[in-house]
Amino acid sequence: MTAAPPKIESQPGPAKVMAGALENSLALPWEPKALRRRKHILLLEGITVSFEGFVALNNLSLALREGELRCVIGPNGAGKTTMMDVITGHTRPDRGEAWYMDSVNLLEADEVAINQAGIGRKFQKPSVFESLTVGQNLELALKARKTVLATLRARLSGEERDFLAQTLTLINLADHRDQVAGSLSHGQKQWLEIGLLLAQKPRVLLLDEPVAGLTVKEIDRTTELLLSLEGHHSLIVVEHDMTFVRSIARKVTVLHQGAVLAEGDMDEVSSHPAVVEAYLGGETC
Ligand SMILES: Nc1ncnc2c1ncn2[C@@H]1O[C@H](COP(=O)(O)OP(=O)(O)OP(=O)(O)O)[C@@H](O)[C@H]1O
Ligand SMILES: [Mg+2]
Repeated sequence: MTAAPPKIESQPGPAKVMAGALENSLALPWEPKALRRRKHILLLEGITVSFEGFVALNNLSLALREGELRCVIGPNGAGKTTMMDVITGHTRPDRGEAWYMDSVNLLEADEVAINQAGIGRKFQKPSVFESLTVGQNLELALKARKTVLATLRARLSGEERDFLAQTLTLINLADHRDQVAGSLSHGQKQWLEIGLLLAQKPRVLLLDEPVAGLTVKEIDRTTELLLSLEGHHSLIVVEHDMTFVRSIARKVTVLHQGAVLAEGDMDEVSSHPAVVEAYLGGETC
């Protein structure tokens, strides 16, 4: 039997936030699961992860639409990185489901297969080849996509050269192409790593704290960069820097103790009493 939809319009205050979550379709129990999978490029449902009895993710559900830019916020230990670990196959949950593009079961595929299927991840600490130039780093990343034979030929196609030039401009490093990556600023290394991810042509990008340690100017440039990726890629951005989050936020998911506490636009979640209480210690975002 099909469950009747909840009457969200009759709920008080925080219902607005709930409405955001409902639109997300996770709270639509009457919607067939197959349809939810088809509507989202990434779908997590009821994910629970425990580490020796400690529950890091508690029945977590999250649905990302193609081209969406989603911010995920939450206090230290909320489970944000663990969620990315589940999506990338690094951590296997005790329970739940995780699907990519409807057909890839993320709980069965291994990390390499998930990456090759189009989910790219940037960790907080940039990992670039420090002794190579910016251009060489990008060239290597482009070649890494090729077959062995093509790699042996070791020359970029015209299309790849165009991609490299466009990416250098996009990541604000066009004037640093011949600079050794080790001598870049922390922010420039973060951009280069985003460029290396883009060379993999991912459909989904997971960025864990991309502006941590960046200068205000670098954060502004990162804002522009991420906004320019929206629509072309589907992004999940985890960040603690609320000014930055506010500057890129569309829909925001707030995690707390391994579960979704609220979901909606920045104003909705930042005025949600439970969010103010749990995440901000009484201050609004
Ligand atoms: N491999 C592990 N073994 C045991 N506990 C873990 C492991 N990985 C994560 N945890 C715990 O799970 C909880 C969630 O951690 P997680 O790193 O996902 O939080 P987070 O939201 O990313 O926090 P932060 O904002 O500090 O990066 C934390 O209490 C953490 O200590
Ligand atoms: Mg983390």
